[in-house]
Amino acid sequence: MKTPTTISELGISPVALGCWPLAGITSGAITEEQAVAVIHTALDTGVNHLDTAYAYGRDGESERLIARAISGRRGQVVLATKVGVYWDESGALKLTGKPDLLRRHFEESLRRLETDAVELLYFHAPAEDAPLAESARLFRDLLAEGKTRAVGVSNLSVAQMETFAAECPFVACQVRYNWLQREIEADILPWCRAHNVGVVAYEPLAMGLLTGKFTRDHVFPPDDWRRQSPLFTGEAWTRNLAEVERLRAVAARSGCSVAQLAVAWTISRPGVAAALCGAKRPDQIRETARAMFIAESFIAQIEALENGKLQ
Ligand SMILES: NC(=O)c1ccc[n+]([C@@H]2O[C@H](COP(=O)([O-])OP(=O)(O)OC[C@H]3O[C@@H](n4cnc5c(N)ncnc54)[C@H](OP(=O)(O)O)[C@@H]3O)[C@@H](O)[C@H]2O)c1
Repeated sequence: MKTPTTISELGISPVALGCWPLAGITSGAITEEQAVAVIHTALDTGVNHLDTAYAYGRDGESERLIARAISGRRGQVVLATKVGVYWDESGALKLTGKPDLLRRHFEESLRRLETDAVELLYFHAPAEDAPLAESARLFRDLLAEGKTRAVGVSNLSVAQMETFAAECPFVACQVRYNWLQREIEADILPWCRAHNVGVVAYEPLAMGLLTGKFTRDHVFPPDDWRRQSPLFTGEAWTRNLAEVERLRAVAARSGCSVAQLAVAWTISRPGVAAALCGAKRPDQIRETARAMFIAESFIAQIEALENGKLQ
């Protein structure tokens, strides 16, 4: 099969399911049955793109759950995974760019996913234990071997993407991007647009903040990563909640939810190919998936809000 030169050739839905929360690490536990139900709901509501990683779960729980959920439906799914981040024996998250380790982790990912190949394989994050060009050549080899249809990078700077591109073609750049966190607009987004690389936005709901469900007095349990996040602490927390109220007013006028408005904004940005929406319950992905069907009609409203946006 021909190697795609753009992400659109993979045919991904603009709302994708981010499968990190299904491992039960980001914001507390989730049962296997709930996780499988989330994936089924995603596929049943028009989401065809599932995004996971070798590191999503201390023992690859996210990849295993995906395999279980898509058994018999593999042909319906544009499957992405990532290598380059792993849990070490002490339970700490580590980065690696070593080709032999990346290959070993990817082979383990394929076993967990019960598939011979994925549609998209990302280098998860820059690492200091190997030259980036060497890591990139491993991805080029995996592409040539047909173990992945296309390659993506994640969390790389523009200079790092240029180094990677010199060794291996890639079609996707996965980075944080949402209404509140727009750092990529300075250089990464323009670079991707200029080089025909699709931006795949992670945390489009700012870890749930942009659903509008939190109040200032919300107390996150100890196993919830949001407890430590700068988005949810101090003055930024107050400012972010005020911004959510501005979105809520537009959402109310538009007849959609705050979450749908936030995701619709993200996928309407030129250069963005998809938003990876995390979900822990079927109704959550059912709600956010609707953003891809209503995006067009909201763009004018969202732009008007943006023009008056307070910094
Ligand atoms: N490449 C990378 O380095 C990287 C880094 C981070 C994430 N990612 C990818 O991006 C995906 C998305 O990131 P994320 O899951 O951390 O953040 P997110 O999509 O911004 O937020 C997801 C969380 O928001 C809550 N939520 C979602 N939909 C909701 C709804 N309709 N109503 C109310 N609450 C809702 C859920 O948590 P609660 O129910 O607990 O509130 C859910 O787990 C990940 O799954 C992963 O695939 C990649």
